[in-house]
Order: sequence, then C-alpha cells, then structure tokens
Amino acid sequence: MTESSEANRPAPMEGHGAYNRSSRVQAAGSSPAVPLLERAAREVALPLSPEPVVIVDYGSSAGRNSLLPLGVAISVLRDRAGADRAVSVVHTDLPDNDFTALFQILASDPDSYVHDDPAIFPCAVGRSFYDQILPSSSVTLGWSSWAVQWLSRVPALIPDQVQVAYSQDAGVRSAFYEQAADDWRCFLVHRAAELRPGGRLVVLSMALDDHGDFGYKPCVVAIYGAVLDLVDEGFITNDEARRMVIPTVGRSRQDFTAPFAETGSFAGLTLEDIDIFCGEDSIWTEFQGHGDAEQYAARWAAFSRASVCPTLAASLDDKAVRSAEFIDRMEARMIARLKVAPEPMLIPLAKMVLVKGSS
Ligand SMILES: C[S@@+](CC[C@H](N)C(=O)[O-])C[C@H]1O[C@@H](n2cnc3c(N)ncnc32)[C@H](O)[C@@H]1O
Repeated sequence: MTESSEANRPAPMEGHGAYNRSSRVQAAGSSPAVPLLERAAREVALPLSPEPVVIVDYGSSAGRNSLLPLGVAISVLRDRAGADRAVSVVHTDLPDNDFTALFQILASDPDSYVHDDPAIFPCAVGRSFYDQILPSSSVTLGWSSWAVQWLSRVPALIPDQVQVAYSQDAGVRSAFYEQAADDWRCFLVHRAAELRPGGRLVVLSMALDDHGDFGYKPCVVAIYGAVLDLVDEGFITNDEARRMVIPTVGRSRQDFTAPFAETGSFAGLTLEDIDIFCGEDSIWTEFQGHGDAEQYAARWAAFSRASVCPTLAASLDDKAVRSAEFIDRMEARMIARLKVAPEPMLIPLAKMVLVKGSS
C-alpha cells in the first residue's frame, strides 16, 4: 500500500464508555472461554511469596467485559495464594484507548473485582500487544478476548469491501492473511517473553469456522452499504471511502496452530487446547421473542458502531471535525439496512490455552 497515514492502523473502540454499553455480543461470546481461564488460574505455577501474582488483560478496551473473567481468575488465585498476597492486574490496550472509562468502571461497577480486597492493584498500559509490554518472565496469567483479530496495520486497501473476508480480490486477501500470520507469531513471541515459566495465557478471538466462514455477513454488508450511502449523499468522498478498511482477520484453526506445527512448541509456548465454536447470537434469540426489526437492527448497528466505526472514521480527511457526525450517520444507515430483512448472525470464535514451558 502506498498511502501511509494514521488510517493504516486500527483505531481503538468508540470512547466515552460507548464500547462498555454496546459490547454484549462480545461478553456473550467470551463466556465459553471463562472456564478455561478459571482452570488456568487453578493450574498455573504461582510465584513464591511475597512476589506479586501478575494478571494481564491484553486488549481490554474500556474494561466492562474484563470484570467477570478476571474476577473469576482472581478469586481462584486468592484462594491459592492467600489473603495477603499482592495481585497486580494490568489492563493493556492501544495508547488512545478509553482508559478513563476503564478506571471509572473498576472503581464503581458492582461487578468490579477490586471491591473489598486491599491486596489487588489494578493498573493500565497503553502500548500495542505487538510489542513487549511487561518485563520478561513477570506475568503469571494472561487473558485476551476479542482483540488479536485486529492486525498491527492495514496491509492493503480493499477495492470492493471494508472487510477482507468478503472481498473478491485474491491479491488483497493474501496480503491480509500474510499479515495475520506474521502478527500472530509476533503476538506469541512477546507473550512468551512476558510469561513466567509455567505461566498461562487464555485467548478468545474472532475466527473462521471449519468451513472457512468469517460470519457476520448481514452486518458487514450493512457497514459497507452504509459507507456507499454516505458517498451517494455527498457526506464522504470516493477517496475517503476507498481508504476505509477494517483491519481484522478471522484466523482458521490451522492459522492458529501453524507456528506450533513443526515442533509442538513456538518461542517456548505450547498450545494446550484450541476449540473453534459459534458464539451465541442473543440479538437473534431476542428478536424471535419480540419480533421488532428496528430493535434487532439497532443492536447490531450499535455493536458495529462501537467496535469499527472509529477505525473507519480515521480515514476522513478532517476527522477531528467530521468523525462524530460520520459515526452517527453510519449508525442510522446501518439500522435502515439491517431492519429490512433480519437474519441470524454467524459468530465464529476460537478459544485456546497457551502455556510457557518451565525451562
Ligand atoms: C473488540 S475490543 C475487545 C475488548 C474486550 N477485551 C472485550 O472482550 O470486549 C478489541 C480491543 O483490542 C484493542 N486492540 C486492537 N489492536 C491492539 C493492539 N495492537 N494492541 C493492544 N490492543 C489492541 C482495541 O483497541 C480494542 O480495545
């Protein structure tokens, strides 16, 4: 890609707590991975007292969806390590993330893991997980949900879509899949460096199902259609639309396991468990009960707005001025499109456990 700008990198989720309010799909999708984290907390090698137990949340966004899984892990670790052992909880995300909403929710949400435990020390780091974030051999337990499908950069513009999974351009597709393969290895190398010997990492990610399907088709079609609507209305230019890309890739089981294929381990990590499954489509289940197409459309549009519209808005020429209106207009156009013919959404996900070798 020749054009290089901020638009070539993913932007964080929508701020001012919007992601926390519009990420129930993600919360439901992550719940089958929580038992893996609970088991990892039970089995992980603990540092000797008085060293703190360090838990890291990679790609936390504004934190709402981290409260439950981390709370489950902390309660197991608390039982194992004793009431006085310091537990350091590190939430990490991109530098522009909504860390204000994260700290507010940690302080005030009734489900926060912080309450009534003076030996829990939350903090945050704004640095990409494609770099090393924490000191070597310092992390006991890692958790990452709905984050590693985001690439480190946009490897190519997509001529016929905003999401590569539905592009017909073979060259562009292979550029994205190569970037996804490089990024997965890069993520693993840095996590391997940070984990203590015997440390464990649980990852939940968007994925391709066993037929190679990325899913979310009605949503992705509505997002791209909304972008074209805004061109037709003259709110964005053809050039801005051409630069709009969602740099996420669903990896297949084979993509996730490839780095481990030759020797069974990679950078000192082994992949103990991997499962590809379909997330629960609660929006469709609720629609079948209430039959309200507008409500169905509004919920999927809110999901798309909070998670991908800020990234699309980064391609606007004068984004400081027009981003807010762009995002509002995108949501309205997505609702108009999605309500015409409500359908269930396929939500392919991968959950896995990685373990750092002890030597
Ligand atoms: C869909 S949100 C997931 C948030 C939360 N973990 C959940 O389960 O709902 C994805 C998060 O990954 C973050 N992210 C994307 N690329 C990243 C990177 N290279 N380094 C750190 N965080 C990244 C985004 O900023 C965003 O907050």
